[in-house]
Amino acid sequence: MPPNQVTFVQISDTHISGRPDYGLNHAPHSANAGAAALVHAVNNLPFKPDFVLHTGDVAYDPDASAYQTAREILGRLEYPIYYLAGNHDYGDALQRVLLNRTETIAPFHYTFELNNFQFICLDTNGPAEPPRGNVIPEQLEWLDQLCSAEDDRPLVIAMHHNPLPIGSPWLDDYMCITNGDAVHAIICKAQRRLRGVFFGHVHQSITYYRDGVLYAASPSSWVQFKAWPGLDETVKDDNAELGFNVITLSEDQTFIRRWGFRV
Ligand SMILES: [Fe+2]
Repeated sequence: MPPNQVTFVQISDTHISGRPDYGLNHAPHSANAGAAALVHAVNNLPFKPDFVLHTGDVAYDPDASAYQTAREILGRLEYPIYYLAGNHDYGDALQRVLLNRTETIAPFHYTFELNNFQFICLDTNGPAEPPRGNVIPEQLEWLDQLCSAEDDRPLVIAMHHNPLPIGSPWLDDYMCITNGDAVHAIICKAQRRLRGVFFGHVHQSITYYRDGVLYAASPSSWVQFKAWPGLDETVKDDNAELGFNVITLSEDQTFIRRWGFRV
């Protein structure tokens, strides 16, 4: 690993199921076949990423059998993998099966460090009408402490849900975090050292930028959706490429490369 540099892969919304054929009603391939192709693509990149970050909805059905299947498929990744829980996940089973934990935490949140970069993984599964997200007061306080800290390390924040409205009603009113403005206000406290906020949930590659903060989402390995100003319903994007993000952080720059693959 070059000094002061980290390259990681963001994957998202694998929706792995205990049923091998799950998802064929929405895509030409099952969710499990998409996840397997994703693993193959990441393992065959022409370089070695430092780790993989899964921004949630690992499983479609929140039951233990789905996580056994997820362990079989995602366990073939040749790199360390960090998980977030999405609205379709069961955080307890995710931690027990994928992380081999006998004791689990709720909310499922943590930080880690690599090469002097700090990573914050936030749980956005507070009380809200699904599939919307919410960040509970204790999580806001935890995030505030981290973002307000005297800390010079470059910072990355990861979460499952899309945090801010963008003028596309199906994302803003149906999918978004209900208290995203509060989350954003806290995140802004770390703006000078923040290298990006990475999320999933929206099943498409979108980017937005507010108050000097970069927000970017990864596609899904299963089915993709569309978004445009004014769109008020969920519309599949059958022509969108399956993909993931390759993110390179340096001392002064964030470089995001969208990487496509086929099943
Ligand atoms: Fe989701």
